[in-house]
Amino acid sequence: MEWGMKNRLSRIIDPKSRRCLMLAVDHGYFQGPTTGLKNLGETVKPLLPYADALMITRGGLRNWIPAEIDKPVILRVSGGQSILKELSNEVVTTSIDDAIRINASAITCSVYIGSEYEKETIANLADLVNWGQDFGIPVLAVTAVGKEMVRDARYLGLACRICVETGAHMVKTYYCDGFEEVVEACGNVPVVIAGGKKIEERAALEMAHNAIKSGASGVDMGRNIFQSDNPVGMIKAARAIVHDNASVEEAFKIYKKK
Ligand code: R5P
Repeated sequence: MEWGMKNRLSRIIDPKSRRCLMLAVDHGYFQGPTTGLKNLGETVKPLLPYADALMITRGGLRNWIPAEIDKPVILRVSGGQSILKELSNEVVTTSIDDAIRINASAITCSVYIGSEYEKETIANLADLVNWGQDFGIPVLAVTAVGKEMVRDARYLGLACRICVETGAHMVKTYYCDGFEEVVEACGNVPVVIAGGKKIEERAALEMAHNAIKSGASGVDMGRNIFQSDNPVGMIKAARAIVHDNASVEEAFKIYKKK
């Protein structure tokens, strides 16, 4: 792997443990002012010290995040749809020049396998990988799930493997039963799980724990952290699971501590 690519990746994923905790706050690109992100800056500030990387759009960064932060940015460079329309109708919205200007450590887009615009979203990922190869910037592929899709290991394994074969350097997907199969489908490419819709804190921590146990490299969590009644406790708890192999019980105690 080229030096720059390796260097950027190692800022996101610990090269020794291969683990990482990403904080996802890019939801506004199709969900608008998501609960918990209305003032994105205020939400991110207390959480950032506990995150290994921040997943965000360029507008999110420029409007709410001070340029002095020292965390690697995973820049969401796709969009073009909203929750009111077909979700898979996504295009690349941000040029590689702007990603470089922003000093992104990685770029990311979603891939909608089995959805109406499947081919276009795979082509978006391919474009990102080609740009990434040119400039040494790794690509995180997000396997977004269309409304009709069953989130099982067969489907998510298919989606993740397509991302890997297209050249993604990291894959983000959803947790499911038999997650080992999904991890296996990705070979050496690190897999992280999204948190998904807000669920009860213990259940979210259990999901993170199961994902790590099944071979995931970490989590890229958003709503289950920033929509919690104790967001700082929740990110610390998720961090303990990802980096310290904490049990669900230990992590839940960390979340509870105010
Ligand atoms: C959605 O496509 C965005 O990429 C979010 O960053 C992603 O869903 C992760 O956030 P959450 O844990 O809230 O699902």
